[in-house]
Formats: sequence, structure tokens, C-alpha cells
Amino acid sequence: MVLKNHCDGVLAFGGGSSIDAAKAIAACVTNTKTAQQLAGVFKVKQAILPLYAIPTTAGTGSEVTPAAVISNSESHKKEVIIDPKLTPRMAALDCNLMLELPPAITAATGVDALTHAIEAYISTNATDHTNELALSAIKLIFKLLETAVTNGKNVQARQSMAMASYYAGMAFSRAGLGYVHAISHNIGAKYAVPHGIANAIILPQVLDFSLPNIEDKLANLARLTNIVDNGVSDKNAAKTFIAAVRQMIKSMGIPHYFENLEAKDIPELARSALKEAHFTPYAVPKYLDQMGCENLISKMMKA
Ligand SMILES: [Fe+2]
Repeated sequence: MVLKNHCDGVLAFGGGSSIDAAKAIAACVTNTKTAQQLAGVFKVKQAILPLYAIPTTAGTGSEVTPAAVISNSESHKKEVIIDPKLTPRMAALDCNLMLELPPAITAATGVDALTHAIEAYISTNATDHTNELALSAIKLIFKLLETAVTNGKNVQARQSMAMASYYAGMAFSRAGLGYVHAISHNIGAKYAVPHGIANAIILPQVLDFSLPNIEDKLANLARLTNIVDNGVSDKNAAKTFIAAVRQMIKSMGIPHYFENLEAKDIPELARSALKEAHFTPYAVPKYLDQMGCENLISKMMKA
């Protein structure tokens, strides 16, 4: 369609998947390659068609990131194209487009933004600048995500979530993501679970696992979000933060397990997740091996 009509630009309008699809289209056209051929890091050699994004959900941050997640319908795996050339030239954030979003999608996309911000904040590639962005996002999400879910017409909550998504997207574009996303992409593709829901189930488990190496950072988040007083120890504050994340996810009606996750699938899911995490720019604070990743994923099965 783009070639047939001699289009000289692409306007992406929609949620994260639509914007990712637009990125892939804009890159495939100028690079004369398929999306699968461009999957990986820095494989986009030619500048993409000029791309502009108008997100209609708040969470993916795709409007400001250099990544596009694509699904392979044959292998049921998700692949990621990562290249700075994919970053849209401009993004327009208009929260009026988000006022009608159903609560379930608001919750799932909001937790996606929270996951971006937390993974960027605990990344070993984090900088002062990315921390500033991630902290701003986390503060806004703790303050107003539940309001956006329960009262979708609340303009202030919608506006704050649009900004939080944008801040979190900017933060992870530089600092990277972590095991939550690596596992989420693979489980999401295998069982067709929406990205934000998968993140919500995985995030508390990865924080539990990473806790010994990020106690100070999680304690800082607990104080930033006013979950604990300044006098509380780092150890207790960090645990309280993880509990608050679990509570927020539960209060939005998201389960803590994957309905269809089967034990026989876990070894391959762990292998694919570790491959994604360790061969792309994921600078995680505590490393998982195959057995550790399998154990972690098994905690997300329905009891
Ligand atoms: Fe995400």
C-alpha cells in the first residue's frame, strides 16, 4: 500500500501494536527487507520513511522508543527490531483520545508503563537522566493509574498517564529493559496474553528475585511514592514497595498467574527469554540462569 501509493511518510495512530507496525512498515519499505529480516539490534541500515505517532493508549511508550515488537504468526514467537532509526520524528499526546479506553486496557497499558519505568530504574545502564524520567513516571503512575482505571473520564489522570508513559518510554530507550519484558514477550506470544497483563503477572516475581541487589533502589521508590516513612529501613521499605506493586495489580483485577501456562512449556520459554535478555541491551541487576529462570516462571502457574 505504501509503495503503491508512493507514500512519503507514515502516520501511526493507535495503541502500541499499531505504532510498532507503522515503525516496521516505514523501515521495511526503505530497507527492502521483511520485518523478520530486520529483527535484532541495529539491522535497519537505511533511514526509515518519516514517521509520526499519535498514541491512543498510555503505556507502551512506543511513540518515543527505538523498538518495535513483531509477532511471528508461524512460530508464535515475538521478535524485536531495535534501532534508533525507528524512533518517530514527532509524537502528539492528546489524552482526549484516551477518555473512552476501557478499564481493563487502561490497567494493562498502565502497568506496562510502570514496568518500563521500574526496569529502566533498576537497569545497570541507568543514568541520572533516565532515573529522573523513570522516577517521574513511577510517581505519576502510583498517584493516578487507579483513578484512570476507575474513572476513565478524569482528564488529569489520563493526562498524567500519557506523560508517565512518555517518560517511561524515554527512560527505557536509554537504560534498557529487563527480565520482565524478556519473559513477557515469550509467554505473551505463546499463550496470546496481552503484553501489559503478562508484565503485571511477571513484575512482582522478578522484583522478588532481584531484591538482594536492588534493595536500596526499591526502598527509594517506596519513599518516593510515600508508601513508607523516611525512618523505615531499606530492607522493609523495599519489601513494602513490592507488596504495594502486587496490591495495585490485584486491585485492578489482574491475576497473579497465567491461566494456560503448562510445566512442559517452561524450559523452552526460559531458554527464549534468556536469549532475548542476554543478547539484546538488557542490563539486569541480577542474572538468571536456565534453572533459575525455569523456577521463576513456574511460580506464575495457576496453583
Ligand atoms: Fe512493554
